[in-house]
Amino acid sequence: MRNYTQYLLVLLVILFGCQAEQELKTSSPDGKLIVNFDLTPEGEAQYSVSYDGQIVIEPSGMAFDFQGEPSFASNLQVQNIQKDMFSETWEMQWGEQREVQNEYNQLSVTLKEQEAPNRTIIVHFKAYNDGLGFRYEFPEQEGLEELIIMDEHTEFNLTGDHTAWWIPGDWDIYEHLYHETPISGINATEYRDDPNLAATYIPENAVNTPVTMRTADGLHLSIHEANLTDYAGMTLKVDTENHNLKSNLVGSDRLGYKVKRSLPFVTPWRTIQISEKAAGLIDSRLIVNLNEPNKLGTIDWFKPMKYMGIWWEMHLGNSTWDYEGSQSMDSWQDNPLVSGVKHGATTENAKRYIDFAAANNITGLLVEGWYTGWDRWIGFEDREGVFDFVTEYPDYDIEEVVRYGREKGVELIMHHETSAAPRTYEQQLDTAYTLMKNLGIHSVKTGYVGKIIPKGEYHHGQWMVNHYRKVLEHAAAQEVAVNAHEPIKATGIRRTYPNAIAREGLRGQEFNAWAVDGGNPPEHLPIVAFTRMLAGPIDFTPGIFELSLEPKPDNQINTTLAQQLALYVVIYSPVQMAADLPENYAGHPAFQFIRDVGVNWEQSITLDGEVGDYVLIAREERDTGHWFVGGITDENPRDLDISFDFLPSGKAFIATIYRDGENAHYTNNPDDYVIEKRSITSEDQLTLSLAAGGGVAISLVVEE
Ligand code: NOJ
Ligand code: CA
Repeated sequence: MRNYTQYLLVLLVILFGCQAEQELKTSSPDGKLIVNFDLTPEGEAQYSVSYDGQIVIEPSGMAFDFQGEPSFASNLQVQNIQKDMFSETWEMQWGEQREVQNEYNQLSVTLKEQEAPNRTIIVHFKAYNDGLGFRYEFPEQEGLEELIIMDEHTEFNLTGDHTAWWIPGDWDIYEHLYHETPISGINATEYRDDPNLAATYIPENAVNTPVTMRTADGLHLSIHEANLTDYAGMTLKVDTENHNLKSNLVGSDRLGYKVKRSLPFVTPWRTIQISEKAAGLIDSRLIVNLNEPNKLGTIDWFKPMKYMGIWWEMHLGNSTWDYEGSQSMDSWQDNPLVSGVKHGATTENAKRYIDFAAANNITGLLVEGWYTGWDRWIGFEDREGVFDFVTEYPDYDIEEVVRYGREKGVELIMHHETSAAPRTYEQQLDTAYTLMKNLGIHSVKTGYVGKIIPKGEYHHGQWMVNHYRKVLEHAAAQEVAVNAHEPIKATGIRRTYPNAIAREGLRGQEFNAWAVDGGNPPEHLPIVAFTRMLAGPIDFTPGIFELSLEPKPDNQINTTLAQQLALYVVIYSPVQMAADLPENYAGHPAFQFIRDVGVNWEQSITLDGEVGDYVLIAREERDTGHWFVGGITDENPRDLDISFDFLPSGKAFIATIYRDGENAHYTNNPDDYVIEKRSITSEDQLTLSLAAGGGVAISLVVEE
């Protein structure tokens, strides 16, 4: 990992009691974003933010409640102010771009209670051109060894009834549909019993982050958190009347608190991304910049890849996870024993997928349902000790599959469905990862379906945050990269641990196969690009070509085929699945795009977009200089103007354009598509016509 340039300048340190207003603020390097800190007459801490002369966050409080200790809320005095400037360029080992600019001005304010117990806290603000991060530091201090946080009260006092794109503040699962409402219309508790989900817990009218908003003046804001380490995940409680969001940490009903930490410690960064244009949110690198530099060094054992899976066939109900044939997707929903459906993970089937992948520039294969236990995992109840991740079903020979794959240049991706029993999983980390090491397997897809055992813990509580981190660290030591499903939310940890390659944490493609509410609507992904995707890479699993989902007459995918191609560019992940069955790709002309499309980028540019409507992104592949463009729209057809001025001038590219046909429509004619070839230079402009639920994908290969 190279640090090209780095400078840190401590501008001034003022000791003791200086509250002069001008010192209690800092601004972004371009001067547009200003954050102010101050104390109320009661000595309560508050901050406010303005952008380009407009207030964005009105004075908003910062306080903590503890167990067995008075709250840290008032009677505070400023003890010390420190201001720093920082600038560096760091390199992403894999990512949306190679070089990342990390430049900010920092204000750190030390606060002390004027009365006993006279505790001290430091609030750090980092002002960037693309937003703001702030966090609390609890420094070492006499008489205070440990704190039990009952809640953190960080407020985001909005300036109006902004339009918001939100999912409910579920303490477990982020696999909800997004809603577009004004802040005053947020009604998260109505989504408590999602029939599609095996675990949900929505105790308040709160939202999960990132939550993205647009003000009446057209400014875009997104609130999230960065570097969630040994702390509880933050949901935001909504005050619909006063347009105020307030942190509500995920708790532990088992332990009776939210966070327990020994001093000294820091909280995660609370983040506000700000951009005039919606597109700017996607190009913001605030979340990764607020994380620590890479701790692992170069992990040359992980290479971004496209992969296939013995996976979609189970979600369609064509085959089962378990050997006896009882664990198909249908059995998950109604629990009847399904007969006559065959086991998916057989040696023979794996070889069939490997042959297909190898012939089509795809270098990974995920195999689910290869180890024993699936037959006992019915109704999600009997879960502790069910899976062991090393014992094959009799029709699967993992060594032979690994050997065969290696011969053909396809590496196996391990699967560990923990069934949300993390204690069982932790006991198995040694054996399960030793098997991977011995077999030379360098990536694993983990899963946490169901309610967490022990009861009273939630996927986003501190206890689980620490579990997910433990797995990531254990995996890194064994040279394994992790793609977690039902994960902890992404907070930019991939900068520190580049083996955190991707995660789910949204309603993925699988919902289209089995959701009882008609699958993901066409606006889903044009919202996801501006919300969930700001947090980090997404294992969405694109590329379904058989969109009517033949074996499932009540389900279909609400996009056109061209949009499925566009998703390889629009939805970023260093591991991209070609999710459909080999037989649906074989001989299909549009499959050429999946063969060609890159997975690791030199740079990415969001060309255009509006939250929930459409988005158009261009990415340059690392090492080849080829470019790929993806555009998607919601249920409305639209024309997108594209200027190719992002291409290097003086070079010609052969463009292959995969676009919606004239009569394409996501409801009844999704397969209508056209492939065109032409020469393109940086001087060219085109109008791209996208159908309802449609998309466009373009590969631009440098002309020899
Ligand atoms: C849910 C995951 O999201 C899905 O991809 C996986 O196939 C099932 N769990 C089984 O582990
Ligand atoms: Ca899932």
